[in-house]
Amino acid sequence: MSDILIETHGLKKYFKTPRGLLHAVDNVNIRINRGQTLGVVGESGCGKSTLGRVLLRLLESTEGEILFEGKDVVKYNKHEMIEYRKQAQMIFQDPYSSINPRMTVSQTISEPMEHFHTFPSKADREDRVYELMETVGLAERFVNAFPHELDGGRRQRIGVARALALNPKFIVCDEPVSALDVSIQAQILNLLMDLQDDKGLTYMFITHDLSVVKHISDEIAVLYLGECVERAPSNELFLHPEHPYTKALLKAIPVPSIHHKMAEDDIIKGEVTSPVNPKPGCRFAARCPYVKPECTDHQLQLKEISKDHFVACTLFE
Ligand SMILES: Nc1ncnc2c1ncn2[C@@H]1O[C@H](COP(=O)(O)OP(=O)(O)O)[C@@H](O)[C@H]1O
Ligand SMILES: [Mg+2]
Repeated sequence: MSDILIETHGLKKYFKTPRGLLHAVDNVNIRINRGQTLGVVGESGCGKSTLGRVLLRLLESTEGEILFEGKDVVKYNKHEMIEYRKQAQMIFQDPYSSINPRMTVSQTISEPMEHFHTFPSKADREDRVYELMETVGLAERFVNAFPHELDGGRRQRIGVARALALNPKFIVCDEPVSALDVSIQAQILNLLMDLQDDKGLTYMFITHDLSVVKHISDEIAVLYLGECVERAPSNELFLHPEHPYTKALLKAIPVPSIHHKMAEDDIIKGEVTSPVNPKPGCRFAARCPYVKPECTDHQLQLKEISKDHFVACTLFE
């Protein structure tokens, strides 16, 4: 069996808008090994959620391949698609809006099992709900609670249990801790990492917060306006960020000190260009301190500058 669980080649998702084609995901090539985590980072609106949804085929792609265990998800037949729905799951940012407020914990967790008839008997489903609650650290006494009776951390544990209900191989975690108090974020991150160790899960972990992604990710992909501008193993990316945008993102991580003031040149300046009918060349050019004329006259490709470290920037061409 190959080490790679899921990979994309030239993946694109364009939305038609009244102003033109919005390039939400543009020519993205990612690869995630079995049992590992790819962190996907970038500012709000850069296409992270769209990428996650396209991978799970919650949205249809515009172009490109999504190979899951070597087979193109886009070409799955109906039966293969049902299997894929079980094997690839999503955990959402806001557990409050992603779960039905009128369903109890038990109903929420058992719903996917009912839908896919994986545990046809009610008694089996009930056993499975208790097992999953234990797995995610939710006390049994909450089994008949409604979401509003639970705090954000416990609600996110329901989201995790629900994602696990069908024994998936792959989970897209879309900003799963961004809506939580900092004190609770670490608990949920630890839970996700423990589950990965126990079950060999493969994650795509989406976040706009680089400080969150460092420890959980094996590899990190940096998106800017739909394009992947840099990809590297997590340690390498934090030690040797090369793309000017990645450098700026890393400098923007808050330092926990009242004496620290961000240096003037650490702040990313300039306007974000529009993802609608983008001009050729580097999309970060308008904000880049190193911009040169050649940055905007041709399409940039990711280039491997050291082992497994890829950058799309004219500084490295
Ligand atoms: N259904 C849609 N129709 C049109 N544009 C969309 C749609 N969904 C997302 N977009 C646009 O695609 C871009 C990427 O959005 P999104 O993937 O949500 O970014 P992120 O998750 O990184 O914040 C944004 O410009 C957003 O406005
Ligand atoms: Mg998003």
